Amino acid sequence: MKFKAGKPEDFSPGSVTLDVDQKVYIVRAKEGYFYALSAVCTHLGCITNWKPDQGIIACPCHGSKFSTDGTKIAGPAPRSLPRFSMVLDDNGQLVVDKSVVVG
Ligand code: FES
Repeated sequence: MKFKAGKPEDFSPGSVTLDVDQKVYIVRAKEGYFYALSAVCTHLGCITNWKPDQGIIACPCHGSKFSTDGTKIAGPAPRSLPRFSMVLDDNGQLVVDKSVVVG
């Protein structure tokens, strides 16, 4: 459930990057802090898409929409997207643990 997501400098402030294999967004807020957000829609499990032109995360299946902090803003999804634990390891790599939901 743990994976290395890359180094902090790999991500620019204000970026939302999908790790396709892990189905997790690595989000670096404009202010610089990081979080890991599930890309799996809480409705029926489709993989969502980041829409940079609209600044939202959207599900292609039934139209649910989420803000970049995971908050549900539209559609049939029953819950917001969960965030996972993310720490910096001794080698300066961001490590995400999908077994630990932090919000
Ligand atoms: Fe995402 Fe239905 S699976 S809206």
